[in-house]
Amino acid sequence: MNTLLRKPCVAANWKMQGSFDKIEVFLGFLAKNPAILQALEVIFCPPAVYLDVTRRRIAGEEALQALKLAAQNTYCEQTGAFTGEISPAMIKEVGCHYVLLGHSERRHLLGEDDTLIARKAVAAYHAGLVPILCVGETAEERAAGRTIEVISRQLEAVFQVLPWETFKTGIIAYEPVWAIGTGVASASKDAEVVHTTIRAWLSQYDEGFARELRILYGGSVKAENAKGLFTEENIDGALVGNASLQAETFLNICQCAIEVASLQLN
Ligand code: PGA
Repeated sequence: MNTLLRKPCVAANWKMQGSFDKIEVFLGFLAKNPAILQALEVIFCPPAVYLDVTRRRIAGEEALQALKLAAQNTYCEQTGAFTGEISPAMIKEVGCHYVLLGHSERRHLLGEDDTLIARKAVAAYHAGLVPILCVGETAEERAAGRTIEVISRQLEAVFQVLPWETFKTGIIAYEPVWAIGTGVASASKDAEVVHTTIRAWLSQYDEGFARELRILYGGSVKAENAKGLFTEENIDGALVGNASLQAETFLNICQCAIEVASLQLN
């Protein structure tokens, strides 16, 4: 990470896991560690049904004010007859700042394609949400040497319909599909190569934009590998799944980001 250019960020993606009680424990733990929320941007992505209660809890506790809320998904329309979907406007109303878009589980398990993700990005923008756009290649694509081609295609789909100027505060998460939930993270150096390529790809729009946009790594991040990843110049933090379910483990990962950042500042 380069903390002079970009604020480190660690996001907890709970996927379809959690309960009122577990969220209360997690938030209670964070509230006891307010320094972490000051040093980093910390984002919490609980399942949609818990967004409102989380928002109220954050609003009611001074120590949690800096915690940012994100939805794990949204739809590409603001309102209408779309049974079971939740619109960006609704996500915004329940206090979300960010929304995850194009997570690999949505792409590969739930059939979302580039076109739908791009439409969601536009709808999210119109509702005032900030996207965390997830991109990443499968094991087969990696083995075929197609990593950069796949990621460029995924980025292009969104940037074609959403002017880069509207993405200035957005975040990109590089999440190799083969690393998600497998316990096998990408080697830091390999991830850095992809992050550097993403940054170079973004520079076609504007050098400053490419330099300042945060690119997180996701896929089996844990305290044991976080420091190595965060030490890389272009890895600005992490999107954490499994290891975020326990507050203590998650905070250990946050602590790694703080340690790397403070080494840079000294
Ligand atoms: P994982 O998930 O940390 O459990 O691999 C990451 C993600 O899906 O965002």
